Amino acid sequence: MDREEKEMTIIVTGGAGFIGSNFIFYMLKEYSDYRIVCLDKLTYAGNLSTLEPVMQNENFRFVKADICDRAAVEEIFQEELPDIVVNFAAETHVDRSIKEPGVFLQTNIIGTQVLMDACRKYGNIRYHQVSTDEVYGDLPLDRPDLFFTEKMPIQTSSPYSSSKAGADLLVLAYYRTYDLPVTISRCSNNYGPYHFPEKLIPLMIANALADKPLPVYGEGLNVRDWLYVEDHCKAIALIIHKGKFGEVYNVGGHNEKQNIEIVKMICKELGKPESLITYVNDRKGHDMRYAIDPAKIHNELGWLPETKFEEGIKKTIQWYLDNREWWQTIISGEYQDYYEKMYGRR
Ligand code: NAD
Ligand code: DAU
Repeated sequence: MDREEKEMTIIVTGGAGFIGSNFIFYMLKEYSDYRIVCLDKLTYAGNLSTLEPVMQNENFRFVKADICDRAAVEEIFQEELPDIVVNFAAETHVDRSIKEPGVFLQTNIIGTQVLMDACRKYGNIRYHQVSTDEVYGDLPLDRPDLFFTEKMPIQTSSPYSSSKAGADLLVLAYYRTYDLPVTISRCSNNYGPYHFPEKLIPLMIANALADKPLPVYGEGLNVRDWLYVEDHCKAIALIIHKGKFGEVYNVGGHNEKQNIEIVKMICKELGKPESLITYVNDRKGHDMRYAIDPAKIHNELGWLPETKFEEGIKKTIQWYLDNREWWQTIISGEYQDYYEKMYGRR
């Protein structure tokens, strides 16, 4: 079958992770005639049980593969002849990148190259790179007037953000050099269902429910700009349909919170005492403040976030209460060793 005769097919890499799975659910719901093919290596962060609700959907296919494996990637492209590739697959946890940077460079940079080479080989396929606001480095706490715009220089702090920045540069080079139809989105911190429990919000919920210490790095004054995951998914859907090739779009909802505020909010919502809060050694190179200026995506594509933080955090906490099996299975396995290594003597 050639591309014109078949339905719109999107390859979503990293779809067994947090944002990728939410994106798959969103796309199958909003674009029910699209075919969605999830390509995921199922690393520690990928969870097939997350995709359970769509496994029987005839417009969905799951393929276990590594985005760095050129032969495997080409085989899937040949079989599926995708119209669009959306790359979520990445190593994503800053703390892990500080301990072991190698795999971050491999997956986040080389994996991006392999995917874009396949896009070139199979018909100049539309490619979207899911990137992060961390590529801009950080902003000082005493300049609340400053925000990340797309024009800001890339200035990274961690091996994770450096690997994402390297990938972004490669994506823009493939646009300029080979005319590959690319776009990039750089989003702020997401929260919501299926967030892996090594990250701040789900970790604090899980620990608080177990009456365990809540490990706040440094003084807890660092600021993150939180966005409900479905709002991010909507932004990506808009960009892949209407975004201009070669462009970068920042995604964020002007929702800045200090880490300590978030942790106290979780304690309050769960009826747990703030005495569980334990200040631990700071993250090396810890970025102080992230804050997105979303004017471009708003003005050019009409995107606006819809979920207010107060509502989103309540929904998220409720989701973790209703889906204990999902995260308790994760934290009862090899995650225990990770936790001991990261927090044991912190
Ligand atoms: P996640 O860690 O929850 O999931 C990553 C997924 O990628 C997992 O399913 C994993 O199995 C898969 N994967 C990892 N290496 C792979 C490989 N070599 N081949 C195929 N699959 C592989 O990540 P997330 O939080 O959902 O983030 C998704 C993307 O969004 C990442 O590119 C990340 O940089 C970006 N991002 C995340 C946030 C956030 O707040 N979580 C914010 C902005 C941007
Ligand atoms: O900004 C987007 C980025 O957000 C994404 O690109 C990353 O993939 C994603 O992991 C996230 O990075 P952060 O480092 O901001 O998220 P994390 O949840 O790891 O930490 C949020 C803040 O909370 C940060 O300032 C560190 C702090 N923290 C984190 C953990 C896990 C703590 O104080 N204690 C903790 O135990």
